Amino acid sequence: MINAAKLLLNSELTTALAQLYCGEKHIYNYTFEPITKKQIDQLISLNLIDDHLKITNYKVDYAAFEHYRQILHPGTLDHMLLQEIEENKVILDLCSGPGATVRALLGNQPKYIYAFDHDQFSVELVNQLAALMGVNNVHAKIADAYSLPVEDQSVDAVVNRVSLQYLDVNKTLDEVNRVLRNKGCAIFVVHGSGYVIYSALKRDLRTAIIILIRGLLFNITKSQAHPKEIYLTPKTLIYLLKKRGFSDFSILHTEKTLNYGPFPLYFALICYKNKKE
Ligand SMILES: C[S@@+](CC[C@H](N)C(=O)[O-])C[C@H]1O[C@@H](n2cnc3c(N)ncnc32)[C@H](O)[C@@H]1O
Repeated sequence: MINAAKLLLNSELTTALAQLYCGEKHIYNYTFEPITKKQIDQLISLNLIDDHLKITNYKVDYAAFEHYRQILHPGTLDHMLLQEIEENKVILDLCSGPGATVRALLGNQPKYIYAFDHDQFSVELVNQLAALMGVNNVHAKIADAYSLPVEDQSVDAVVNRVSLQYLDVNKTLDEVNRVLRNKGCAIFVVHGSGYVIYSALKRDLRTAIIILIRGLLFNITKSQAHPKEIYLTPKTLIYLLKKRGFSDFSILHTEKTLNYGPFPLYFALICYKNKKE
């Protein structure tokens, strides 16, 4: 089996795979050098692409994309989020995926990082990455976002990147509130309303309409029967967090290239728990 962690620490192959991922997913906001014959041969020999350069292992390829965009090509949003987290803190990366955020957070000299995700491949990958990088303050574990294996008020910062829009938002925010200590920081990166436009242009119209309807319903009623892909507005997220005692909100938008006019593809929200008490 391919050692995905080792591959992700190879910036050349990670970039080549991310480029192929962007091609298949119609993501055009990165500029890449042409992939070399040697890189193609290596990716074919690792069974990551076929002879027609079609991706054959989507989990590894998605991992390469996240590591490319967060580690090798971080945007302004990525830089700003890292600035929020001070050194020597206990950080929880909620829905940590393939570990790109964990890798970025290691630059902040954390005391400890919990990386929780319900996907086994992702969790194993994060533990393998930590081992290869020689760090012993990362603890990745399979866990459900609504029931995290940590004590109440035991973490200094929660990071939840591009996952909240797939989850039960209220249940997730309750859990973030439970595990975060008073004055702790919560950082969310979510799909904004521009995601509907992105879906119409790059996915298909039916999906875009479904996300639009579900998103509208959620942003109006603030409740959902079942967690399914939606978009969120800053106003809704701030309302739901205020209800739980969060304050000091800052909204950050991504690079202009990722917005559709006034409709952001992503936005980040930074806030603090019970800061005023
Ligand atoms: C789009 S990925 C984002 C990964 C990572 N945060 C990043 O930015 O690189 C969403 C992640 O949420 C995880 N996830 C979705 N529902 C979850 C749940 N109920 N509990 C834990 N993890 C969940 C998925 O397995 C996936 O890894």
